[in-house]
Amino acid sequence: MIKDQKVIFSGIQPSGRITLGNYLGAVKNWAPLQEEGLCLYCVADLHAITVRQNPAELRQRSLTLYAQLLASGIDPEKSILFIQSHVAEHAELAWILNCYTMFGELSRMTQFKDKSAKNADNINCGLFAYPALMAADILLYQTDLVPVGVDQKQHVELTRDIAGRFNGLYSETFTVPEPLMQKSGAKIMSLSDPTKKMSKSDPNPKSYVLLMDSPDEIMRKFKSAVTDSESTVRRGEGRDGIGNLITIYSVAAGKTPEEVEAEFEGRGYGDFKKAVGEATVELLRPVRERTEELLKNKDYLEESYKAGAEKAARLAVRTLDKVKRKVGFAGKIR
Ligand code: TRP
Repeated sequence: MIKDQKVIFSGIQPSGRITLGNYLGAVKNWAPLQEEGLCLYCVADLHAITVRQNPAELRQRSLTLYAQLLASGIDPEKSILFIQSHVAEHAELAWILNCYTMFGELSRMTQFKDKSAKNADNINCGLFAYPALMAADILLYQTDLVPVGVDQKQHVELTRDIAGRFNGLYSETFTVPEPLMQKSGAKIMSLSDPTKKMSKSDPNPKSYVLLMDSPDEIMRKFKSAVTDSESTVRRGEGRDGIGNLITIYSVAAGKTPEEVEAEFEGRGYGDFKKAVGEATVELLRPVRERTEELLKNKDYLEESYKAGAEKAARLAVRTLDKVKRKVGFAGKIR
């Protein structure tokens, strides 16, 4: 593929409703990248079924997530926004790459180890091979940059190894991508246990703020956020709860943590939690409202994801056809 701009690819799983943590850590950074190159973003539903999903919920969450990505500023004219299962080339390349990915490599993936511990009754082959699917996502588009959080970095490293191995065997086929790590301040912790990452799969709903939570819910969740027995709004050793709230406020209000500490000098936790809640409500309000509007406009959503899938497929087949030829599949059908 001849490229006159950088290709940027990322995905997000519709395996739960998206949280403030997902938004600040990933999605919010995606729209600005549209100035840096051609962006492709996908709702990774093929990845989601590696853990058991309720079909009706999965369907609804995929569409909601798609709308939330649009609402967070991803422009479907500029970027390619699609649902992974709509572009068959992902599954097809994933199969081929499975045959170039080693059992040992997959066994070392920390996410596989974590997820198999959590889903001991369903350690399926898809869960194991998941990184090869992610490699297929990335490599199909000759991606240069992959914006990810730290938990996905190992998968991007493996993608680089797979690409290098394939290129070494068959000559240059794939661009070897680089992970694009999100800047600090993006890691949002649980509101009920601030030593753990904020997670949508946490059984305690007070531990996370959802993008679609109402202003009241958001205020209530911050009010009950776990802090400590001190009383100053300052970061420090063992002050994970207050530190997390400072991070959230600083991102939501566009201030540095130092500025936040200065602003709340001499003020109590009650005041501060209220301010964090209000800043978060205002940060999320436009995204939530736009998402609600989009979800009412089913025709527009459908048109948009169909167009996204078509654009993605046009690029994907180019790489896939090349791969098929190189590994020795016979004939030419297009
Ligand atoms: N596996 C990623 C996650 O769980 C989501 C994802 C799927 C992804 N395909 C991708 C991220 C390709 C980056 C590139 O967060």
